[in-house]
Amino acid sequence: MCGIFAYLNYLTPKSRLEVLDLLVTGLKRLEYRGYDSTGVAIDSPDSKNIVMVKRTGKVKVLEDAILEHFSGGEYSEPVMTHIGIAHTRWATHGVPCERNSHPHRSDEGNGFVVVHNGIITNYNDVKTFLAKRGYEFESDTDTEVFAKLVHHLWKTHPTYSFRELVEQAILQVEGAFAIAVKSKHFPGECVASRRSSPLLVAIKTKTRLATDHIPILYGKVLPRSDSTSEFMPLEEKEVEYFFASDASAVIEHTNRVIYLEDDDVAAVRDGTLSIHRLKKSLDDPHAREITTLKMEIQQIMKGNYDYFMQKEIFEQPDSVVNTMRGRVRFDGNAIVLGGIKDYIPEIKRCRRLMLIGCGTSYHSAVATRQLLEELTELPVMVELASDFLDRNTPIFRDDVCFFISQSGETADTLMALRYCKQRGALIVGITNTVGSSICRESHCGVHINAGPEIGVASTKAYTSQFISLVMFALVMSEDRLSLQQRRLEILQALSNLADQIREVLKLDSKVQELAKDLYQHKSLLIMGRGYNFATCLEGALKVKELTYMHSEGIMAGELKHGPLALVDDSMPVLMIVLRDPVYVKCMNALQQVTSRKGCPVIICEEGDEETKAFSSRHLEIPRTVDCLQGILTVIPMQLLSYHIAVLRGCDVDCPRNLAKSVTVE
Ligand code: F6R
Repeated sequence: MCGIFAYLNYLTPKSRLEVLDLLVTGLKRLEYRGYDSTGVAIDSPDSKNIVMVKRTGKVKVLEDAILEHFSGGEYSEPVMTHIGIAHTRWATHGVPCERNSHPHRSDEGNGFVVVHNGIITNYNDVKTFLAKRGYEFESDTDTEVFAKLVHHLWKTHPTYSFRELVEQAILQVEGAFAIAVKSKHFPGECVASRRSSPLLVAIKTKTRLATDHIPILYGKVLPRSDSTSEFMPLEEKEVEYFFASDASAVIEHTNRVIYLEDDDVAAVRDGTLSIHRLKKSLDDPHAREITTLKMEIQQIMKGNYDYFMQKEIFEQPDSVVNTMRGRVRFDGNAIVLGGIKDYIPEIKRCRRLMLIGCGTSYHSAVATRQLLEELTELPVMVELASDFLDRNTPIFRDDVCFFISQSGETADTLMALRYCKQRGALIVGITNTVGSSICRESHCGVHINAGPEIGVASTKAYTSQFISLVMFALVMSEDRLSLQQRRLEILQALSNLADQIREVLKLDSKVQELAKDLYQHKSLLIMGRGYNFATCLEGALKVKELTYMHSEGIMAGELKHGPLALVDDSMPVLMIVLRDPVYVKCMNALQQVTSRKGCPVIICEEGDEETKAFSSRHLEIPRTVDCLQGILTVIPMQLLSYHIAVLRGCDVDCPRNLAKSVTVE
């Protein structure tokens, strides 16, 4: 949902060409957040002007334009301080085109230029205010008002520092934003801020940083001579800073980052970073911590795979192990979830468990609900975050609310979290992104440890969310004698899971053949029930988002209540029929389909000849405990959607109209 990347060097010589290269590489890492258009802004060689290049389409188009625009000469001379800001856009206000691409500017002279992620909800009011004062707008975006507002404040408050101007501007705007601003009136400075959209500052120095914290300045700006009020990591002041929407964009430069909080204003001036807030409340901290990232650069590279999605599907034997690592002790049958262990007694006393998420994350809740009900003996509600908010769902102090999100930044999920927190519920975050908003705003949580997921379609995060929720159910039932046999069966199955996933991945070429049969069809129905209904929903979502084919996940029990009318000899149908408690009912559905001349592809258990006999096309998966089947059945769905997308010529990692992290409601 838009990616922001900004770079600033101080006393570390770099040419503008090098800075442009850094910006483009940063944007490539963030491209999964949106790929409708891109843009950069850097200083002109005499530093008196700002030059912008913007293009519709992906970063590659911008990269080519930059090569054409800045071919050596003055741009290759080293500069000691230089700032560049860059953006990759997922369009919300205004169609994707060059005019609506970021950076946006304050005036024809490019006095202030802004990159923005999020939505300024009161932009119409601000626009009217500025239009009355003579400002003319050149784009359809909400962002442009911010650049012009800063310019207006600069004209009316000539003594304000750059940071004060941005501070005043963010006081006037409502909604969600992460912004980075650069100005020709304040060369060598960059100011950034966030509210409900992610933004971090990364720091690169040649030697170790002298501190782990940056003090926060509250209220009126202190005199610049007060050195304790600001952060200077090195005596010789040689430093590089990056502002980025997420850590994957900076990890190749440094692993030292500060996750900004809502309404923090971070400013860099003369190589010095300061973090400022206008108001201090009682529980506000005195400093922001500098975090060391655990991520490795290889984790964000494609390696030998053609697409990130493909790599992430094939990483699942390892990612599920990483989710369990240090938590499940198969020898002692013990599970410890460090992030929530202190809250387990409170959770056991709760009125009900609510599992809330969007898209694939929501499906992981659907997949594990039945097991949670069984092992916790508590009512479990599963909610789509957007619908949950639309309904103003009643929430009580003794509810425990789980917020499941790969990115940890999904606006609908985050809003639902705040809604529940305000009403006194215990908030548990299940995320894949350390330092994300959901992570930070939860009382406790489980980090799913799936590693960075870059393909827009979620795959390994789903199976790791699934396992995290299964582990939670096991923790909750640790002291229930009557459930021990069941727990042992599940623990045993968890210990075999990685190998079984490897087995399922061997179906890849068979799935590819199946994709060849299906890719020219308009529609695909995916049917199942019980523990496998979530796989039907998730499979259909993957097919829709990657291949642009129509696909529907159908609860097999509902078939006769309507969807059966869709079935004939030409409608592609895929059915999941495993030897679990709903086997007989699934077989009924299978017969309903075959007797309407349907010829389903069947996903069944290895060696299940009786079920296989119903169709010539089947995929056999290893047998596991019923509540974990969904992990093994979803993988053929991931592979199928991937292969159909490739055959249809779709952009697998960047499906049209979508973005990885949806930070607008
Ligand atoms: C589908 C997909 C989306 C996300 C949804 C929630 O493949 O990726 O449906 O699952 O946008 O995102 P997170 O999990 O980041 O909250």
